[in-house]
Amino acid sequence: MNILVTGGAGYIGSHTIIELINACHSVTVVDNLCNSSSESLKRVEQITGTHIPFYKTDIRDRAGLETICSTTAFDACIHFAGLKAVGESVSLPWEYYENNINGTLVLVDVLRLHGCKNIIFSSSATVYGDPAMIPITETAPKGTCTNPYGWTKWMIEQILTDFHTADNSWNIVLLRYFNPIGAHSSGLIGENPNGIPNNLMPYITQVAVGKLEKLHVFGNDYDTPDGTGVRDYIHVVDLARGHVAALSAIENNCGVEVYNLGTGKGYSVLDMIKAFESVNGVKIPYVIDPRRPGDIGTCYSAPGKAAEELGWKAEYGIEDMVRDSWNWQKKNPNGYEA
Ligand code: NAD
Ligand code: UD1
Repeated sequence: MNILVTGGAGYIGSHTIIELINACHSVTVVDNLCNSSSESLKRVEQITGTHIPFYKTDIRDRAGLETICSTTAFDACIHFAGLKAVGESVSLPWEYYENNINGTLVLVDVLRLHGCKNIIFSSSATVYGDPAMIPITETAPKGTCTNPYGWTKWMIEQILTDFHTADNSWNIVLLRYFNPIGAHSSGLIGENPNGIPNNLMPYITQVAVGKLEKLHVFGNDYDTPDGTGVRDYIHVVDLARGHVAALSAIENNCGVEVYNLGTGKGYSVLDMIKAFESVNGVKIPYVIDPRRPGDIGTCYSAPGKAAEELGWKAEYGIEDMVRDSWNWQKKNPNGYEA
């Protein structure tokens, strides 16, 4: 298929492009590079030996998108572009709602005007709020989000669903990611957060590389086996392959479908520290701090629906994830900056 990938220079997008090309799809990337570097795409070209058409365009730029969609007829769009820092969204709600929601509205309008009504959207397990059940199935109700970032995912899911209600020629796949970590095995591409990382794994790798002094473990009084938060970490390459599998739903005229992309296994913060230390032979000093506001104790998926309907399941284990995260960080201590 001919795929438009928004946000393709970012962490998950860049890994997904490789898997799309491996599966013989053609890819065009749109990214405004507000949170990424075109260097990631150069490295994807190096890994795949394939030229990737790239437009440095904002998805809110209707004229820019019109030009791209007039040049190429797309069969489907995989929509990663968006702002994703939870804490930042609390202090910049207007920017998050405007970028993520308005961006999506402009994108889908231009797509439909050019006859493309197939979209795969990057949603998040955050839409389950404090989950009604563990493991979380797709039938669990959407919950109350604790920050504007989460609400943008919640609302975009609803907006896209309403599109399909009004016009059932749309095919919409909502992928709810659990906790992506890891990197391509080459160590050429990986997660490249701005400033001090919010998420656990980039924080650990920056402690390991000496950029940060110690990890702050947010709470050890949760109702979990060791008291620290439990999450469903998924290797980004598995996650990327989930998008390729989701294209089969589009091809089968799925209407609106929701899939969890997770492993179904939960690991605590202390499990992650131990795995990182034993696989990589690097010590991670840490202190126990109070809980982070908005955090929940336990969150992991029931991944069976994607296995049954898409034939997809995560293949990499926790050792692969911590090894590949470290391989990327140690080869690129400053990310894509030289
Ligand atoms: P990322 O920040 O690395 O990638 C997002 C990309 O979108 C960046 O390259 C950025 O420059 C681009 N972008 C942002 N706004 C844009 C705009 N208006 N126009 C064009 N490009 C724009 O993030 P990621 O981790 O690769 O996440 C990809 C998607 O998956 C995001 O929508 C994110 O919310 C979602 N998601 C991520 C996680 C995670 O833990 N990484 C979890 C759940 C969902
Ligand atoms: C966070 C976001 C969520 C988003 C997801 C993926 C919050 C409140 N939630 O979820 O909306 O969808 O990332 O991007 O930010 N931890 C530490 N020390 C740290 C960092 C994290 O102990 O420095 C702990 C957390 O308390 C949690 C676990 O590690 O138990 C994972 O945290 P994180 O990587 O931030 O992901 P989530 O909290 O699951």
